[in-house]
Amino acid sequence: MNRFFIFVIAIATLCCQPKNEISIYTAMNAKPYGSIDGKNVMQYSLQNKAGMIVKVINYGCTITDIIVPDKAGSLGNVLLGFDSLAGHMQQENPYMGPIVGRYANRIGKASFRIGDQTYKLSANNGENMLHGGTVGFNRKVWDAKIFSDSSVLMSYTSPDGEEGFPGNLKVEFTLTLNSDNSIQLEYSATTDKPTPVNLTHHPYFNLSAGKNATILDHELKIAADSITPVDSTLIPTGKLLAVKGTPFDFTTAKRIGLEVNQVPGGPPVGYDHNYVLKRAKNLELAAVLYDPQSGRQLELLTTECGVQFYSGNFLDGTLRGKGGVVYPKHAGMCLEAQYFPDSPNQPSFPNTILLPGEKYRQTTIYRFSIR
Ligand code: GLA
Repeated sequence: MNRFFIFVIAIATLCCQPKNEISIYTAMNAKPYGSIDGKNVMQYSLQNKAGMIVKVINYGCTITDIIVPDKAGSLGNVLLGFDSLAGHMQQENPYMGPIVGRYANRIGKASFRIGDQTYKLSANNGENMLHGGTVGFNRKVWDAKIFSDSSVLMSYTSPDGEEGFPGNLKVEFTLTLNSDNSIQLEYSATTDKPTPVNLTHHPYFNLSAGKNATILDHELKIAADSITPVDSTLIPTGKLLAVKGTPFDFTTAKRIGLEVNQVPGGPPVGYDHNYVLKRAKNLELAAVLYDPQSGRQLELLTTECGVQFYSGNFLDGTLRGKGGVVYPKHAGMCLEAQYFPDSPNQPSFPNTILLPGEKYRQTTIYRFSIR
């Protein structure tokens, strides 16, 4: 075949691509992932020059895949999750990869006050609210568009009264894959009534990419000297607890499995605690997670004042994820950059009430490397 024919065939192939299959940049493509109530769910795949791949869907802004090399150069998926939209939509999905909001983490007794007004929220975790309620931001189909060849923009307007929260809240979320193998998550929101806002993502990492069934051999360091201790329903007592000399101490890198069974509280026993980061509102290094076997390292940078370290304690071997793999206890772990839990009811915690005219902003970066 001569070159002219090859050229004609190439152009014809490009023109005949299905309408909803965009392939503008070599680094980015979008393909249909299903639909919910007539709304299309798309999966956006981003790839940088180094070969790292991140996939995100506009159902709950869920990050479905993070594919990064190990120290031998082999690519592996370091995220737990599901292969299909039905997997993500199942009731049993313990927030694998999505945004959580309007208020990440717990609000005690599913209520709070602003001034004289008491707001009753939907309780979905015993008497408390967890991660925004029964149908939180993780279960919404977001409007999405390709923003640049390395970023996707998603938006959602949460109506006044949704899950009991006051005010129409307009939220924007941008995911960018940078050339240094970091994923940048940027959130912003505005409201027309005072309302609590606390947004984060809830990816479960296992840096071994399927080689180890649990994260117990990962090493973790967190830039925090204290945590916000909790009661039996995981609501903060309002006090701070110094981590020195306790199983909570990750001020220097430590194997997660070393003291996981000595963590007070439970069942299930394990880490599910908010760490009080040493500074607030600058984009700074908050935590470093390292898997010595694969050599993969994850650094967490954030503007937030807290990070919830959750060691996958509620995973119990009943959930089947990607490739039919069963997830046992500690199969993956989360580092959720956020405000402190239950802040709307805790006068001593940093303020989470967003007022009309203000703009909520948070930036978190997950940066991957090998060592
Ligand atoms: C959060 C909570 C945990 C658990 C998981 C989801 O991280 O802090 O207690 O509810 O979400 O299973």
